Amino acid sequence: MQEWQILAIFLSQAGKRRIKLDKLPISVQNAPMSHAQQAQIPGSFHFVRAYAKINLTLDVLGKRTDGYHELATVMQTIDLYDTLCLTLTEDRHIEVFCDTPELSTRDNLAARAAERILQHTTYPGGLTIELSKRIPMAAGLGGGSSDAAAVLLALQEWWKIPLSQAEMVALAASLGSDVPFFLTGGLALCEGRGEVVTPLSSPETGFMRWLVLVKPPIGLSTATIFRQLSASDYTDGSYSRAFSASVQAGAGLQKSFLHNSLERGVLERYPEVSRAKADMLHAGAQWVQLSGSGPTLFAPFPELKAAFDVQQRLQAQGHAVYLSHAVHPNSGNVRFY
Ligand code: C5P
Repeated sequence: MQEWQILAIFLSQAGKRRIKLDKLPISVQNAPMSHAQQAQIPGSFHFVRAYAKINLTLDVLGKRTDGYHELATVMQTIDLYDTLCLTLTEDRHIEVFCDTPELSTRDNLAARAAERILQHTTYPGGLTIELSKRIPMAAGLGGGSSDAAAVLLALQEWWKIPLSQAEMVALAASLGSDVPFFLTGGLALCEGRGEVVTPLSSPETGFMRWLVLVKPPIGLSTATIFRQLSASDYTDGSYSRAFSASVQAGAGLQKSFLHNSLERGVLERYPEVSRAKADMLHAGAQWVQLSGSGPTLFAPFPELKAAFDVQQRLQAQGHAVYLSHAVHPNSGNVRFY
């Protein structure tokens, strides 16, 4: 069967179950945005996508004196995304409307990113941010950080804000360790506390052309997971270095490069995560790994058919499952299947 035929079956099954398009576990469309529809001034609104990431490697090298941990991690953006609609308003307010009510606050990282950018403009008005959330929260997928980076990039381009790349990175890093990565997205080695980003060229995806993600039914705080980390889980950074060197040499990727220093502790403490991992392996995944500080797990597949079968089995067991693949949004090869 061709890949497009499998996807067609998947979409038609979703239709029979009357799943609304924006509830599909595969990202295919923009949800309508009410403020943008009401905007009277042509050009006063802007739609942007904010992609999720997974950590293909995550080496924790040790604890720093500033309380953060020194990392080497290879991150990859994937085709699972939030949609943001930015609409200009006349009063100097930033408001967030999100379909997840607890995120409709000015503490939302996206709103804080907009506040920072507004400080660099003479624009007298404000902004409404409508956020259609599809990336699960507190999941290890970088959703909040990606939303913030998407706002920074969109407003910089929209208002032609004369910030250099280094200034944008510094601004992004002040919002969170993962935010600088999302300014470029794609595949990158991230070091320091995560903010020192070296983009890597997109490799032949090979064994990880398709990704099945499972989000166990808990949210985990990154700070808590780092606090619980045992020093015996520290590495010397060799997984991330081997991965990056292989990509830079144009060599194939190997499963043996994949690693997450946070995984052992998370599996030990959170039975929902270890159960989900066991279910994924039992459903046919060959390799299952935690993304970031979790609880989301991902499994790579070379073929869509195998990924699709595993996804169906896990969904039938009641898991929250996403079928996805790598995207490289800034090199123009965002592909849709
Ligand atoms: O940078 P961010 O605000 O996303 O980090 C959240 C928390 O995760 C930090 O307050 C810290 O406790 C932990 N963290 C860490 N080392 C890192 C990144 C995050 O200990 N490199």
